[in-house]
Amino acid sequence: MAIQAVENTYWVLETDHTAYTLGLNRGGLLAHSYWGKRLPYLTDYPPAPSFDEQPFHSPSPGEFPFNRPAHLVPEEYPGYEDVKYIEPCLKVTFADGVRDVVLRFERAEIIDGARPELLIHLRDVHYPFQAVLHYRPHAAYDLIERFVTVTNAGESPIEIERIFSAQWHLPLGGQYWMKQLTGRWFDEFQLRHEMLNPGVKVLDSRRLTTSHHANPWFAVDRGSAEETQGEVWFGALAWSGNWKMAAEVTNFASTRVNIGLNDWDFRWQLAPGESFTTPSSFAGYTDGGFGKASHHLHDFIRDQLLPHGAQPHRVLYNSWEATFFDVSEESQGRLAEIAASLGIELFVTDDGWFHGRNWDNAGLGDWWPDEKKFPNGLGPLIRRVNDLGMDFGLWVEPEMVNPDSDLYRQHPDWVIHFPSRTRTETRNQLILNCARVDVQDYLIERLDRILSENNITFIKWDMNRNVSQPGWPDAPREPRELWVRYVWGVYRIWQTLSERHPKVIWQSCSGGGGRADMGMLQLADQIWVSDNTEPTARLAIQHGFSQVYPAAAMEAWVTDSGDRFLSLEFRFHVSMCGVLGVGANLLHWDERDRKTAHKWIAYYKEIRGIIQNGDLYRLDSTQPDVFWSVQYVSKDQAEAVVFAFLTHPMNPTRLQIVRLRGLDPQAMYEIEGFAGRRSGAAWMQTGVQFDLNHFESTVRRIRRVST
Ligand code: DGJ
Repeated sequence: MAIQAVENTYWVLETDHTAYTLGLNRGGLLAHSYWGKRLPYLTDYPPAPSFDEQPFHSPSPGEFPFNRPAHLVPEEYPGYEDVKYIEPCLKVTFADGVRDVVLRFERAEIIDGARPELLIHLRDVHYPFQAVLHYRPHAAYDLIERFVTVTNAGESPIEIERIFSAQWHLPLGGQYWMKQLTGRWFDEFQLRHEMLNPGVKVLDSRRLTTSHHANPWFAVDRGSAEETQGEVWFGALAWSGNWKMAAEVTNFASTRVNIGLNDWDFRWQLAPGESFTTPSSFAGYTDGGFGKASHHLHDFIRDQLLPHGAQPHRVLYNSWEATFFDVSEESQGRLAEIAASLGIELFVTDDGWFHGRNWDNAGLGDWWPDEKKFPNGLGPLIRRVNDLGMDFGLWVEPEMVNPDSDLYRQHPDWVIHFPSRTRTETRNQLILNCARVDVQDYLIERLDRILSENNITFIKWDMNRNVSQPGWPDAPREPRELWVRYVWGVYRIWQTLSERHPKVIWQSCSGGGGRADMGMLQLADQIWVSDNTEPTARLAIQHGFSQVYPAAAMEAWVTDSGDRFLSLEFRFHVSMCGVLGVGANLLHWDERDRKTAHKWIAYYKEIRGIIQNGDLYRLDSTQPDVFWSVQYVSKDQAEAVVFAFLTHPMNPTRLQIVRLRGLDPQAMYEIEGFAGRRSGAAWMQTGVQFDLNHFESTVRRIRRVST
């Protein structure tokens, strides 16, 4: 059984290989007791820790005045109360001005069945305020999902100032390191690994989106884990707006990671009878290193979150870098013909197709085809694309409006703004307040009409600026609820359209990878990972992205970026590591380029099942910034494919041996370009050596053969 209760005071959540336990300690606090490898017997798990006696030798008699039990206990969901200065998960103000919250255990419930869940009901000792902690073990993925619902059961409003999804506790004591993803526009998903010291390490977004600057993910180890081995505790947040992660090492050697909605500028008025539910945080433990942690997340995202699961992604062409805003039936048609001849399956018209859109200073908001560029609507272009044997896709940026648009002229009040402040435009645009239901309804109506009237099977949903002047002047409630209601509004628009048009594949883009998270991946099957398509930069970006998200969600185009120093083959190989697309100006490609493209697109179609739905292995590199190798293995281990890239080593030496992974040790395999058949064990132990020169790459298929 995935969830077991012991005397209704202690709970054990087990997944295939791990366990997570919590219980009431002697003082009645709900405390975390274990998160690690699954143990043979229930009695193996430690009791909920108590600190109701002197924890340290002290020369002075009596109680320590500075730390009380609540400060020392690793509480599952601490509220701000008592003599307790750790990062709390919850902070509220009651109607009478009382600003702490004293939650105590009331009861527990276990829901069995296909989706088991433990619900721990807590209640404030004085006020009619309840919190339910939800725990869902996802056994096959070794993940635990946590979220919280609070309810105001009284008659006066309650103000929530902070409400995290979870506090994840690491085993007490020891020194931990944390992997994290930070960056900026054009340089997203840079992987960092740093030691956690006493104090609080905070990563967050205040930008209304997940942001290019940090991703809501962590992977904590003891400083010695590697890709293939070692204990790793990892987790993420399924939320596409302001978030916060606060990794705290207390002065009592307790390490915990808080994750949830950002409390910065956050307020929520919980009216009598109302409830509020946080987004989910998913976290897991493995002793199989960072690679295994990624596998768990990849499998879960692919199997449980992505709307179209394992459905293979088509090779697309996107016109943006070829035509920019100069979009017309003719310009798109010319590109479509070449694209089809290369084997492209999906033709996507990017920005520039809608009313008044000739540059980035006009048109956003007016979601109908530009009358000059498409006098007969999109129909003729779509038919031409379909006749060429390709599906058609379209770019939209629903949340935005240019002041130079019919929509803004009619509804200047629909944007996020403070009336007395200048509305800062970035990229000449403002943000529609998607927290407003009338804005949501307008966007649903416009986009639904486009999708209903045209044969469109793919939408790239873009979002090209971050927030400023985050006001909602005529808000019916607390205006700072904007931060959450905006995201809920975007989710509602997207969800409604997905339900009405279930075949459409959606791609999430926010000026590249500005909105990539497990919340988004429940609506979008793909992420446009970065506007930076220069392949050597992309190698690092893709490496970071792969820590959390599967290759199936990683759209990657071959463009003209890097063409002065990188072969077209190299550029293809980099993009083939995810969902292959092409974004180059095909009119500039000569016959040789087209042949190369044709060859690699055909090759990719043969291996995409392994890449998109197999296991991804980041192979060891002794020169991490200049030599990269990544391998994908089909779930049945019958097929694999390995890529290797050499950029510009300062001190060229013979390339290292690459040890393959994930093969069946007993089975025999052949590797394209290498003589002989050898066991999986042999290829994995003795490895292969590629012969690459500066800025060269290779891709090799690996096949299981009978002995
Ligand atoms: C930013 C995106 O990341 C690009 O790919 C492109 O769609 C532009 N927006 C269009 O404005």
